[in-house]
Amino acid sequence: MGAVERDGEFVVTRGDGAWIWGADGRRYLDATAGLWFTNVGHGRAEIADAVAQQIGRIAAYSTFGDYAVDTTVALADRLAAIAPVPGSKVFFTSGGSDSVDTAVKLSRRYWRECGQAGKTIVIGREKAYHGMHVAGTALAGIPVNHEGYGELMPDVRTVAWNSGKALLSAIETHGADSIAAFFCEPVIGAGGIYPPPDGYLDEVRRICREHDILFVADEVITGFGRIGGAWFASTRFDLQPDIMTTAKGLTSGYVPMGAVLVAPRVAEPFFDPNGGVWWRHGYTYGGHAAAAAAAMANLDIIERESLLTASARLEKTLHDKLAPIAAHPAVAEVRSGTGAVAAVQLTDASAALPLARSLRGQGIATRAVGSGGIQISPAFVITDEQIEQLVAGIVAALG
Ligand SMILES: Cc1ncc(COP(=O)(O)O)c(C=O)c1O
Repeated sequence: MGAVERDGEFVVTRGDGAWIWGADGRRYLDATAGLWFTNVGHGRAEIADAVAQQIGRIAAYSTFGDYAVDTTVALADRLAAIAPVPGSKVFFTSGGSDSVDTAVKLSRRYWRECGQAGKTIVIGREKAYHGMHVAGTALAGIPVNHEGYGELMPDVRTVAWNSGKALLSAIETHGADSIAAFFCEPVIGAGGIYPPPDGYLDEVRRICREHDILFVADEVITGFGRIGGAWFASTRFDLQPDIMTTAKGLTSGYVPMGAVLVAPRVAEPFFDPNGGVWWRHGYTYGGHAAAAAAAMANLDIIERESLLTASARLEKTLHDKLAPIAAHPAVAEVRSGTGAVAAVQLTDASAALPLARSLRGQGIATRAVGSGGIQISPAFVITDEQIEQLVAGIVAALG
């Protein structure tokens, strides 16, 4: 805020594909797809038309109780059809933090309905980011994000981000009968882009299954193709999550929306036709019809243009093209190769913010991520030529 007070904002006025334009009249390569959301690229008139058409018909209605709008129902059916666990139910939210809050409440409530009210602890990982609501802030593993609020939520534990043994030892310490859920980003995003170590996801998934702890995949970043070749990282890595949180790529950010996909096991107590539990939880704009229309058009584009395949290709291109940068003396490592995401980690973490700013001088819009990383997570429609420009810009700015 101080920097903005001193230097002013960087104001964006429009976008097209992987380009954005600043109020300064210059064009910039959008290296981050906004905040990891513009999977289909900017400026899609098709999404604008779908939203306009929906608003003209009915923009939104209550989705509480048995109310629903047809477009929202169609989207729920479509998401259920691509869910990593067949038969999943869909709970709509207004974004990723809502999705995480929903998953925390649902995991605790589920166990109570199963007669195990003592299962309340939620476990997160170091470096993890789960949004900015109270539950997500408490659960996250980025210490600076917790500072200044006191204890936000009871019964939260954090384990090492890269060790199944650490999860196991937390289970031994607290007892599986006191643990509701383990929250896991398949690829850590805002904490600095850390792909999972080999075998890690399989191991923690197995541990959760063996100890009857719900496995919650936070796919707010990784969902909708970001982890190339599949709709979800959970599909690609066969995680079969009990609960999966999503947002961002669901609408490519054209309209805010999130969704929580709930496996039949967890949904079942609430959907019992002979007196399912009334879960008093929901958001005014959950299932917003204009957002649902944006999501439908966005998913149409991903399917029609084979953008899941494009993202798989982008994963490899980014990995190959960024690899030489690791040799630069100012660079500690380049983390890439799992999904269409990468981080250029600087040896001097404090240099990341100024570098991200100076990259604008090279016509590249990005930001610092984690502790001393530069974020790269472009739209799936970015061209090879634009990637060359991105890499050249980073090399020039490092110089
Ligand atoms: C993994 C993860 N979970 C949750 C969130 C929160 O989403 P939102 O900012 O839409 O509330 C984010 C946002 O970046 C995220 O990366």
